[in-house]
Amino acid sequence: MERDEFIKSLGFGLALVCSGSCFQGCGGKGDTGTPEPNPNPNPGGSTASVNLASQLLAVGDQATANGVLFFRVAAGNTSSAFVATEALCPHQQGSLVWKQALNKIQCQLHFSEYSTNGTVLQGPQNTTGNTRTLKIYATAISNNTLTATIT
Ligand code: FES
Repeated sequence: MERDEFIKSLGFGLALVCSGSCFQGCGGKGDTGTPEPNPNPNPGGSTASVNLASQLLAVGDQATANGVLFFRVAAGNTSSAFVATEALCPHQQGSLVWKQALNKIQCQLHFSEYSTNGTVLQGPQNTTGNTRTLKIYATAISNNTLTATIT
């Protein structure tokens, strides 16, 4: 084999190796509608807080902080008066809101609904895929600060 032919054959082989790697790298997964295992942007063990002197004053009030949705379900500043959960829906990251009149957490994108303990009451509407149970975070109150520990 001549030197030029050898180099050309090396180039062709190298091109095959490179394109194989690229195809493998680009072979991303499609949107299957499968719930994200942990859509929360926060790593486990971090916290989120709200100031009870100015937030969540009335039953039904809600606020988000650090990827956590907080809402008040009863009067008084005890942990049992509040719920802290994920701010984004596990299905496709729609915003979750507390609907006091319905006593449900509702996704604003495909209208999945959840109870205050995170149980799925209704799955995504007019779309594909499923959701999962919401994470409910433990809360603690110190002075006027309500803190959720993100797990
Ligand atoms: S993003 Fe919430 S139901 Fe689809």
